[in-house]
Amino acid sequence: MKPGRPLVTPRRTGALRPPAPPLVSAQGGVPPRAAANRTAVALLVAVVAVVAGAGAAGQGRTVWDGVYTADQARRGAEAYEQACAECHGADLGGGDMAPSLAGVEFVYNWHGFSARDLFERLRVSMPPAQPNRVSRREKADILAFIFEVNGMPAGDAELAGRSGPLGAIRFLAEP
Ligand code: HEC
Repeated sequence: MKPGRPLVTPRRTGALRPPAPPLVSAQGGVPPRAAANRTAVALLVAVVAVVAGAGAAGQGRTVWDGVYTADQARRGAEAYEQACAECHGADLGGGDMAPSLAGVEFVYNWHGFSARDLFERLRVSMPPAQPNRVSRREKADILAFIFEVNGMPAGDAELAGRSGPLGAIRFLAEP
């Protein structure tokens, strides 16, 4: 606010426009929008730094870091048997129409994606006729089972059926 400017004047004179806020402010002449952009960029840099730091600290997890439990995979095997095996095969080897969910071709198909990408694939579209017939939680269990059959080791904590945690897990074909 510029000092000495008579704030009441416009109203008293019936002017329609209120005094325009100073776009180029007194703070070193940085327009507010540029300042906001600068803040956004700084925030982004900070977030990227945190994520990169987490990776460096070993939290950039992959499917080889024990991201599900053995119990969960056991539940997943049952759910898979009920909802998926008729097409993808009891051993996940695939069928006449349905692709294999285990083995070299499958793991390289998903190499470099996240566990969330794979989860979303089966959450949204499997089983094809009625994707909603199998709950989100059961699908996380099934994904754990798929990891197990592909040789990825079990760990201490269950695989969550939520986008955030799943998105932080990279799917790699090999450890
Ligand atoms: C009626 C047969 C059928 C059933 C049941 C079925 N699928 Fe599928 N699935 C397919 C077919 C066909 C494809 C490939 C074409 C497509 O995506 O629709 C596929 C593709 C997939 C893929 C992508 C594979 C890749 O590497 O691209 C995944 C993952 C998958 N299914 C998981 C599941 C899971 C988990 C279930 C059980 C919850 C399930 N499917 C049930 C037929 C089936």
